[in-house]
Amino acid sequence: MRLDKFLSVTATATRSETRRAVRAGEVIVNGAVARDPADDIDENTAVVAFRGQTVTYRKHHYILLNKPAGYVSATEDSGPTVLSLLPEKYTVLGLFPCGRLDKDTEGLMLLTDDGETAHRLLSPRRHVTKRYAFRVERPLTEPEKAAFRAGLTLSDGTTTAPADIETDETGAAGVVTLTEGKYHQIKRMMGALGNRITALERVSFGPLTLPADLPRGAWRPLTDEEETALLAAAGTEN
Ligand code: URA
Repeated sequence: MRLDKFLSVTATATRSETRRAVRAGEVIVNGAVARDPADDIDENTAVVAFRGQTVTYRKHHYILLNKPAGYVSATEDSGPTVLSLLPEKYTVLGLFPCGRLDKDTEGLMLLTDDGETAHRLLSPRRHVTKRYAFRVERPLTEPEKAAFRAGLTLSDGTTTAPADIETDETGAAGVVTLTEGKYHQIKRMMGALGNRITALERVSFGPLTLPADLPRGAWRPLTDEEETALLAAAGTEN
């Protein structure tokens, strides 16, 4: 693989950044200063350092984003998308959101270029759990929570699988756990109880938990441990 392609697909640098860094002697390949961005390297064995940082080749990319309200879970839209929160060097990777959150929903969003894993994680057969912290307009009663846990019939006749729900002592805030992902599911489930969601934040997706130290709008690659756990949840070969 060409050196500039290697640095591009590892989301290290755009081709023009690579040109500048190579010219400045800031790219080291197997201990020697790289002379040409077009140099051929073996992506699996080369030891590459870009501006002092070691770069490891990865077949796929997995990004954990703390989605703010106001961003659409899509690769393209007339409004701002979750992908627009990433720097330019990520645009070449073909990342897409693994599942959707409503525009006004916040919290954990996985972005990846691994179509097979995303497909498996979203398959209803796999029952990957998603947990959401919520607020509702009116406190929920115990019978309403019991109905939620048993599964509800939505206004269009769709039935939902049993979903766990816990509330705090006010009854108007808590956490819902879903094993499926129907369109506007939690809002519609609350609607079926004559209630209305006023705030919704995804706090976990399968083995991933929204990190307390990741501000809204910020993102980071999954750690090796998170990636291993995610691929195990998807049943994908590493
Ligand atoms: N349920 C909803 O209603 N909206 C979301 O964004 C996620 C789950």
